[in-house]
Amino acid sequence: MLIRFTLSLALTRLAGAVCWHDPAAVALPSFGYALERGPLTWAGLAPAPQYDACRLGKKQSPIVVYTRTAKRVDPKNFKMNITQYINSGGVKLENLGTTLEVHAGREHGSLVGVIGIEGEPYGPYRLENMHFHTPSEHRINDEYYPLEMHLVFKSGNRFAVIGVLFQLVSGSPPNNEFMHNLFLSVRNITRPGTSTITGTLDFRGLSNAIKTGPLYTYNGSLTTPPCTENVKWLVLGGTRPLHVDTYNKVKSVMKFNARYSQNAPGKINLLERARRIADGATVAASSELEPQSDVVLEGDGILVGSEGEEPMVPLLLDDEEYLATQNVLEW
Ligand SMILES: *[C@@H]1O[C@H](CO)[C@@H](O)[C@H](O)[C@H]1NC(C)=O
Ligand SMILES: *[C@@H]1O[C@H](CO)[C@@H](O)[C@H](O)[C@H]1NC(C)=O
Ligand SMILES: *[C@@H]1O[C@H](CO)[C@@H](O)[C@H](O)[C@H]1NC(C)=O
Repeated sequence: MLIRFTLSLALTRLAGAVCWHDPAAVALPSFGYALERGPLTWAGLAPAPQYDACRLGKKQSPIVVYTRTAKRVDPKNFKMNITQYINSGGVKLENLGTTLEVHAGREHGSLVGVIGIEGEPYGPYRLENMHFHTPSEHRINDEYYPLEMHLVFKSGNRFAVIGVLFQLVSGSPPNNEFMHNLFLSVRNITRPGTSTITGTLDFRGLSNAIKTGPLYTYNGSLTTPPCTENVKWLVLGGTRPLHVDTYNKVKSVMKFNARYSQNAPGKINLLERARRIADGATVAASSELEPQSDVVLEGDGILVGSEGEEPMVPLLLDDEEYLATQNVLEW
């Protein structure tokens, strides 16, 4: 997942107002996914302690989600509304070098969105951006997928991110229009720093899939520097279809941008573990390879706090409150 620095974001907006296709309009991050800018070195790309969580954090993302033990959000307790700011025409898709991204806001070419989770002390969360990773960052029961979408939401300074995994299909698949339209002109933005306009995006199919779930949840981090923790993750258990031709177009532009799987939540950071081993330590692995021992499932769809978490303060998101949330969206 990616957040940009406030300053560069402000500059982007300014430049963006001048010309959407100006290469200078998109601010590019300094980290990468290969060689000396790759995920193993992220912590060193900024003066300490800015990116320290990337090498020391014990609740880092992405993780391998083991569905047998993962905690779920009951669909009954989950509300969401995402749409284009203006419903016709497309949205602005940017090549940030590290990802392809559509940002949210009250501008033509943006998205607007909100989620509310009943029983969750924070929120509602407002949409910040939608961006992609290939291959997928999260894995489900060890399996990876070719593409992952991140819908990044924020409430105050706390993030909530929905991860949606895509599976390849060929022929004339149903439910493929959204991704087809989204990446219609992706070949126009092969150069980092450029942007294009997508086809019209109808979020209903995607929204329904997310609302139906299962949504696996855990307390993790941003998957890009500064690797900030205390991020509420919601990973959709089922996959969405992606035509192989669309995928090949996206892959040729986005290249490779997935951080490696992090240790189970609460366990030692794998970089710290590797450092100790490089220093000559012998580290027993057996017990640490148990899947996510601090994430517990207590029956389908029951939201439970796991050990070490803050108690869940009930926040009833009744219809009236939800409507108020919606009104915020109706500019
Ligand atoms: C993409 O590039 C083609 C060829 O240069 C151009 O005709 C088209 O208008 C561009 N489309 C978008 C949405 O940028
Ligand atoms: C999530 O983890 C952070 C530490 O990384 C902790 O401060 C926070 O209380 C946790 N949040 C929940 C809801 O458990
Ligand atoms: C979602 O938000 C849009 C834009 O504000 C609004 O027009 C629409 O009615 C909302 N949909 C639902 C289901 O609340």
